[in-house]
Parts: sequence; C-alpha cells; structure tokens
Amino acid sequence: MKKSARKAIIAGNWKMNKTRPEAKTLLEDIKPLVANAEGNVEVIACVPFTNLETAVNVTAGSNIKVGAENVHFEKSGAYTGEISADMLVEVGVEYVVIGHSERRQYFGETDETVNKRTLAALEAGLKPIVCVGELKWERECNITEEVIARQIKLDLWKVSKEAIKNVVIAYEPVWAIGTGLTASPEQAQEVCAFIRKQLAKLYDEETAESVTIQYGGSMNAANAAELLAQPDIDGGLIGGASLKADAFNVIVQAAVNG
Ligand code: 13P
Repeated sequence: MKKSARKAIIAGNWKMNKTRPEAKTLLEDIKPLVANAEGNVEVIACVPFTNLETAVNVTAGSNIKVGAENVHFEKSGAYTGEISADMLVEVGVEYVVIGHSERRQYFGETDETVNKRTLAALEAGLKPIVCVGELKWERECNITEEVIARQIKLDLWKVSKEAIKNVVIAYEPVWAIGTGLTASPEQAQEVCAFIRKQLAKLYDEETAESVTIQYGGSMNAANAAELLAQPDIDGGLIGGASLKADAFNVIVQAAVNG
C-alpha cells in the first residue's frame, strides 16, 4: 500500500490548556480554515476532559473530530479522578491519546498501563493514538530502536490484527517535545519506518502498510511540510502549534497538499 492510500491525520494535543470559552473560540476559528481537508486529511482536536462536550458541540457537522487526552482502563468503579472509555464514547469522543510521554514522565504511566488503556479504548469503540518515543539519553546511547521496538510490542500486546486498523501510532521523541528541537525529517522518517517494520513483524506487511503513523515533537508551520513529505510519516500530533488556529491550519494544509 502506498502512503497516499493511508489515512493522513493531523491531531492537535491541547494538553492542559484552554477553558471552555477559549476552546469554543479556538475551534470556531479552526473550523472554516480546515473545512477543505474533508475526505482527504482527518483533523482531530484532542482536548482536556472539561472541554470535550464543548468541542463535540462546536464541531458537530464539521470535519473536525474530537479526542480525549487519556482514558482509564477499568469500566467503572473506585478510581477517583479517572474517566472511562464508555464515558468518553457517550460524550461523542472518537479518538484518545494514550501513553503520551508527559503521562509516562509525570504520572507513572508504564507500557503495561498503556496497553491496558489501549485495549479498553478499542473495546469501547474509541480509536487510540498510542504514543511512543525515546528519551534524549536513550538516543545518545544508540538504543532508540530497542526502546521503540519494546514500546510497540508491549503497548500493542493482545491488540488483534482487526483492531490495529483502528489504532494510530504517534512517534514522539521525548527530547523534541515542547523544546523547539524537532527531529530532522530523516531522523523522524527512520524511526517511523522502523515502527512500520515492527508492525509488519507483529501482524503482516499489508496490515503494517495500512496503519497511520504520525510524528510529534515541535512540529510547526515552518517544518511540517518537510516532515509530512516523508514516505512513512502520515500525519502529525501537534502540541504548542495546535493552540493557534493559523499555525495549526498551515500544518493541516501541508498535509492536504502533501
Ligand atoms: P509540541 O508540539 O508542543 O512539541 O508537543 C508535541 C506533543 O507532545 C504532542 O503530543
């Protein structure tokens, strides 16, 4: 399968930003700008839990899909502060970011919990955006591929060949997140191609070719086109630049034109 046959996906990860009125304004600004992406590039806004309902309402009837930034793996129960997959589905959420490095770094997320969340999300009908990526130190020690192979294997444990078609993988080198340090297009392509190779090992060549793999880490209006032109980079997971309608739109248009 050629890159052009895969679904290109540009997703904003708002992280812990925007109140409800601010979310409404930003989405209303983004909506007309990205309307031309329909049928060509999937546009997603992954927003804080408190903004989900607002986002679903504001984007209704548009081509913008809504995602959450995390999900718990149990269906319900005594898990104070957590949100289940069924709760997200009921609000109208379609996607969910799982295993972001900030969750791994600050909130004790492990490959085991990433895997449990991924399975729970899939079972509820959500599409997980599973994040993987090496630390700066791991890249310096030349073990990027070992780290990524391990994450892919553990995070996708027991995800069936059928289900993997609903999973998006985001390669986010931890050293590039929020630092202004972007992986070069060659570095990002190398790891995204490696991820696809791991998927081929776990599933098969055809399945691996069908999975959307995004790059994330200081992707912005200036560098998006070059990153998105790489043969194994099918989209972007955008932090800082997704908080400004114009910058986010430039990235969406780079995907539309790529
Ligand atoms: P930045 O685009 O701000 O570097 O964040 C990337 C990211 O973490 C997206 O999930």
